[in-house]
Amino acid sequence: MRESDKQVSGLEAYVERGDFSRYYGIQYGDPRGAWPWKEPVLGALLPNIAGTVLEIGSGGGRWGQYIMEHADKAILVDGTPASEAAIRGHFTVPQSTEFIVSPDGLLPTVPDASVDFVWSFDTFVHFDADLFWTYCKEVARVLRSGGQFVLYYAWDRDAAKPFFRYYDPKQVEAKMKRLGLKHQDEDAIVMDARLSTWKRSQRRKR
Ligand SMILES: C[S@@+](CC[C@H](N)C(=O)[O-])C[C@H]1O[C@@H](n2cnc3c(N)ncnc32)[C@H](O)[C@@H]1O
Repeated sequence: MRESDKQVSGLEAYVERGDFSRYYGIQYGDPRGAWPWKEPVLGALLPNIAGTVLEIGSGGGRWGQYIMEHADKAILVDGTPASEAAIRGHFTVPQSTEFIVSPDGLLPTVPDASVDFVWSFDTFVHFDADLFWTYCKEVARVLRSGGQFVLYYAWDRDAAKPFFRYYDPKQVEAKMKRLGLKHQDEDAIVMDARLSTWKRSQRRKR
């Protein structure tokens, strides 16, 4: 079973039991409480929420709660409908919010160049290469010129997390560049993984 599918099953089990305290990934820290990495993570999220914002791996709404509150439109994507059930059960969901279930990483209902900001935390660390790069290609397609993508991914070093999938930052950077996504600034290292920002370069006029 893919690691990402295990994450899906975990979320579905928590939702079935109604155990909000352990919804993925609330158990790793509720951003409203005290949390060791709160500052860099919220610092990469909150100032970027504007216009249409898409989150990959919305889980129990740990970050989606802010996106729904501050974006004109939130698009919340997960591998299971349990994410929408969890979020609707605990947060106010604006009418403009769109929920997408995408086990394969494709986003066919999202038009090209229609999204201002993409956020994904604690999710790509569980993705195999197929899912990782399918989503990145979709992000490159849906982001408008100058739009940003904040991605949390595990990197190529000896970490004590065998269930993470590790990616070499140099290779990630090269592949992202080919997709038109340019690495911005320094990465923050949070829980041994990278929180990195990518900017969609100017699209060619047809
Ligand atoms: C550890 S949880 C993190 C949830 C949330 N991002 C957070 O930080 O609280 C990992 C999430 O990845 C989701 N996931 C698994 N497969 C996915 C897929 N194909 N597309 C999007 N999300 C997926 C799981 O359902 C789960 O919500």
